[in-house]
Amino acid sequence: MVSRVIPVDVFDLVVFGGTGDLAQRKIIPGLYRRYWGGHIPPESCIIGAARSDLDDAGYRALAREAIIEYVAEDKRDPEIIEAFLARLSYVAIDAKGTGGWDKLKARVRKGTVRAFYFSVAPSLFGDLAERLHLHGIANPESRIVVEKPFGRDLESAKALNAVLAQHFTEAQIYRIDHYLGKETVQNLMAVRFANILFEPLWKSEYVDHVQITVAETVSVDGRGSYYDRAGAMRDMVQNHMMQLLCLIAMEPPYHFDPDAVRDEKLKVIRALDPVSPDDIVRGQYLAGNGQGSYLEHCEDPASKTESYIALKVNISNWRWKGTPFYLRTGKRLRARTSEIAITFREPPHSIFDDAEGWRENVLVIRLQPNEGMNLKVMIKEPGPGGMRLTQVPLDMSFAEALGESGADIPDAYERLIMDVIRGNQTLFMRGDEVEAAWSWTDPIIEGWEERGDKPMPYDAGSSGPEDALMLMHRDGRRWREIRE
Ligand code: BG6
Repeated sequence: MVSRVIPVDVFDLVVFGGTGDLAQRKIIPGLYRRYWGGHIPPESCIIGAARSDLDDAGYRALAREAIIEYVAEDKRDPEIIEAFLARLSYVAIDAKGTGGWDKLKARVRKGTVRAFYFSVAPSLFGDLAERLHLHGIANPESRIVVEKPFGRDLESAKALNAVLAQHFTEAQIYRIDHYLGKETVQNLMAVRFANILFEPLWKSEYVDHVQITVAETVSVDGRGSYYDRAGAMRDMVQNHMMQLLCLIAMEPPYHFDPDAVRDEKLKVIRALDPVSPDDIVRGQYLAGNGQGSYLEHCEDPASKTESYIALKVNISNWRWKGTPFYLRTGKRLRARTSEIAITFREPPHSIFDDAEGWRENVLVIRLQPNEGMNLKVMIKEPGPGGMRLTQVPLDMSFAEALGESGADIPDAYERLIMDVIRGNQTLFMRGDEVEAAWSWTDPIIEGWEERGDKPMPYDAGSSGPEDALMLMHRDGRRWREIRE
């Protein structure tokens, strides 16, 4: 299958924080890959802006290193790399002062799409937004891209939204949740809304429960000071897992259009029940396999921040009342795997005597790695012995099914940055969505802070704390095994 290359319009993209970690790991390599793929017109310009006193050549050298480190070898063509680097330049900027702004103004061109990527601490959003206007660099068509964390609670998220709203309209603001840029996350919508097969069964009448797992093997070493202020709830659940839950639970939007999709997601978030403390298990990893414990990585020996969380979430609406969604995510677990498993209910009546062989149908959507889908169905066990039942998987790996184009899955950032240039906000979070997610999250976090709840220890390389098993056992259900 040949991928369809539809180039975007010529653009000027200013990356504030252009020398930072995200720019080096994701933004520059992602832009290069799109350039290599023919999506970026050669007249486009990428302007790095940061505090460091660099010149264009210095910035290009940094970008070259990033490409060598983060782009796969088969896409590193020396000629294309040089042509791409020639489109890069750099402006040293003082986000809180006047330095560099006139120079930046002179770099952006009339008649091209103008986008500003705020890859900086949220405390600078207001300063940047203000100066872009003060110096006449932003215009009514320009777009800004902001990164997570978008606040650490409802109040701070509202304050950020208010600061940005002073200078930009909602249609100009692109709040990134990189999970929405993942190919398989977008596939959730395709699977649900481009097939008639699943939709009639997609409700509590037929779905027993849903499990959403985002398991990671990495620790928080190196980013302990950020992480310890966030924890798994703020770092993963309020944003990435919430988005996955919304895509599974939302009603079909009338069109694949930014506001239609985001309206439906917002309705799901608003329908979430408050979560009782009994329905939450928090954990913290212990040392193991030559690596330190969470407490060593975060450098606060008394930290009560969770590196693991499992919770049972109920949605109070007609479609989902009575179908719990079990969410879990954590660091230093036994495997890196993200999946959504939808377990269907038992048939209302069995005509077969083989009660033992019987299992529920399960649809598993694997987000990473080895993206694909797996539907477990019952069949007759082959051979003699009467009508004995057994369960088999209908397994589809996207890489196998789609050949080369299925194996070459673009990084989330590539897709999202191209959407910014196209002016398509479907895969970005709207301000009210982010605020609604915090409204649901805040009381949960406040609850355990007030009670002084401590996370349960768990072994590095395990599936998380033992108590998380109970969360499902007591409902007569089981977590799926965490494995690649
Ligand atoms: C980030 C979190 O947003 O997502 C990290 O801050 C986490 O803690 C990462 O590791 C997971 O992203 P991915 O794409 O590796 O699943």
